[in-house]
Amino acid sequence: MMASTIRSVLRVPQFVNFTRGLSTSGASLSKVKGRINAKKPMRVEVVEGKRYLWCACGYSKNQPWCDGTHLWRRWSLKIKQTPVMFKAPKTGQVSLCTCKQTDKAPYCDGAHRRKEIQEAVIE
Ligand code: FES
Repeated sequence: MMASTIRSVLRVPQFVNFTRGLSTSGASLSKVKGRINAKKPMRVEVVEGKRYLWCACGYSKNQPWCDGTHLWRRWSLKIKQTPVMFKAPKTGQVSLCTCKQTDKAPYCDGAHRRKEIQEAVIE
């Protein structure tokens, strides 16, 4: 999904520098991990060559995808993460991280199994 398409889907105004800090390298530019949204990965179907925008902040209501909350609630929720754009290497199901603690964003690396994550209270 191109930045212009994402802008129109999320209805991001032209004056917002939407791509600032946007990561396409497979890892969020922010070293601070996002809010724990769920405690297990989400299996989703992806299509080869298609671009996706994975929520890194953990506040999106459309998990595992970014819904723009990191833009609109950045100040009130003190959100420091930006979404991760990735291109699916092949068509099929993938496990995407929803605990937002993975080191292999957007993919699950098993971080959700850690004790502190399983015992965390999701606000
Ligand atoms: S809503 Fe979480 S990164 Fe955009």
